[in-house]
Amino acid sequence: MREQIIESINTRGYWVSELNNSYNDFMEIISYIGEPLLENDIIIDNTKSTRLFSPKGMDFHTDHILANYIAWYCIKQSNSGGESLLIDSKSILNNLEIIDIKNLLRIKIRCPNVIKNGNSYYNLLTHNDTGEYMIYYAPWLIEELESPELLKSYNNFLKILHAPKLVTKILLSPGQFLIINNNRVMHGRGELPVNTNRHLKRIWISHKHE
Ligand SMILES: [Fe+2]
Repeated sequence: MREQIIESINTRGYWVSELNNSYNDFMEIISYIGEPLLENDIIIDNTKSTRLFSPKGMDFHTDHILANYIAWYCIKQSNSGGESLLIDSKSILNNLEIIDIKNLLRIKIRCPNVIKNGNSYYNLLTHNDTGEYMIYYAPWLIEELESPELLKSYNNFLKILHAPKLVTKILLSPGQFLIINNNRVMHGRGELPVNTNRHLKRIWISHKHE
């Protein structure tokens, strides 16, 4: 089981569980992947103004830079609009010119003060130790692009990001969970009904420190 999950995350960037898992099953599998950093309830709460609690659709993005993986466990699902939308940055990069990739390596994205103190900036695209690209992106956190060449490459990136053919849709049922590589796969969601009782548990996970 453990090998299967890691294999799926390595090849496709994500893994979806079978149905009817308990929360304990979920936590056990998370312990195979890495160390939990932060746990949140993902619910709609119209009395709160933050993006996380809003029923509005969520554009493709990655979560915090320190979350190498994200796991969502479904407690209740919405009658409509609850699909998790995924897009693999590998498919985006495969469709971009080298010049655009080089320019994306220079674009800065703000990282909000959720885990550490103080805002900081990270590149939209970086290389990791093994030469693979890692993505860090949220459209609402990008710094203003003054350079026309960066802007052009960013617009090319957006064009491919919004191509529906690259999107994977996953509708989690209660007791089912999804784990993604947050350094590779971006996620988003459509609009939810205002009165939905959709409830997911989300856990940010860092790499295991062996
Ligand atoms: Fe997110």
